[in-house]
Amino acid sequence: MRTLDDLELDGARVLLRVDFNVPLNDGVIGDDTRIRAALPTLSALRERGASQIVLLAHLGRPKAREPEFSLAPVAARLGELLGHDVSLAAEPERDELGDQPLVMVENVRYFPGETKDDANLAARYAALADVYVDDAFGAAHRAHASNHGVAKLLPAAAGLLLQREVGTLTGILANPGRPLVAIVGGSKVTDKIGVLQAFLQVADTVLIGGAMCFPFFAAQGIGVGSSLCEEAGIEPAREVLAKAKEGQLRLPVDLTLGRSFAADTEVRHTDGVQTPDGWMGLDVGPKTAAAYAAVVEGAGSVFWNGPMGAFELAPFEPGTRAVAEAMARTQATTVVGGGDSAAALTQFGLDDQVTHLSTGGGASLELIEGKSLPGVEVLSA
Ligand code: 3PG
Repeated sequence: MRTLDDLELDGARVLLRVDFNVPLNDGVIGDDTRIRAALPTLSALRERGASQIVLLAHLGRPKAREPEFSLAPVAARLGELLGHDVSLAAEPERDELGDQPLVMVENVRYFPGETKDDANLAARYAALADVYVDDAFGAAHRAHASNHGVAKLLPAAAGLLLQREVGTLTGILANPGRPLVAIVGGSKVTDKIGVLQAFLQVADTVLIGGAMCFPFFAAQGIGVGSSLCEEAGIEPAREVLAKAKEGQLRLPVDLTLGRSFAADTEVRHTDGVQTPDGWMGLDVGPKTAAAYAAVVEGAGSVFWNGPMGAFELAPFEPGTRAVAEAMARTQATTVVGGGDSAAALTQFGLDDQVTHLSTGGGASLELIEGKSLPGVEVLSA
């Protein structure tokens, strides 16, 4: 993959694709991690003499030019972080950009053809600058005009974030410190099956948590009560159980149950993992949490994706918190896939205590699964 060192940047106008797809609530940014993660590349481009940086980014999945998907709040936040205003051009047209050193173009998903990798739109983007840099790791699993088509039309390379994401996430599979531990949680086995298969090949231990443990229990004839149990996950879970080496795969040994998915519901712990009728499993139990934390502390490297339970509800937070705190404590190399596990670390104030917190959700999973990412491939061609 080409890097900034492969580009002639002194005096160049740089088109920089970033992933600023941040959570927005009534125009207020819930988490600006993705914006902050692009700052090192912005500084590097400036230090290397870029004459203008033109930012391209997407936000949400608008079907038309819906105002609630405008990048205006993102441009404002970036301006706060940089200490100067960042203007927003309505269209990817040179005349609209002006000559300020840093400008942002409106949400690329406003432009017809963006998600179809349209060649004409890619050419319009390419006309904005002399070179192209992609730092949008979170969007690298898409082949869209702003991260794929355009990269074929200009001298193109990866920014510092994209480079670090790809290096760290592929490195943990290719050359991990041992023992390598994977913690896989979340609600659906089918979302994580590729990741589970990848780690069964290389990990010393795979720890399962979250509602995705219920298809594993159902596959073994264990009662799941009214727990969220993905029907379509039962067969893949059975296959994973059959494939795992002796002692490699660990499932919860106890659970924390609630009557319903609510913070004020009646709560009890089970000894064992049978969920009685009328109850649902909403977190791993205390024995499991302690055992998983001990495995993490003894690891050489750890990859974590997916919470251990409904951590957004206080009574069902302890399992995910135990894993997060062990991740923060361990001497191991710790890599966290994006999405809910990143949100959990942030909730516990531990997001700066891991070796690498990925800014990619789907992209980090696909990379771990061994799939090639179009946004990365095009920078290697
Ligand atoms: C993400 O948030 O995972 C990326 O920004 C990609 O967004 P998308 O799933 O809408 O393509």
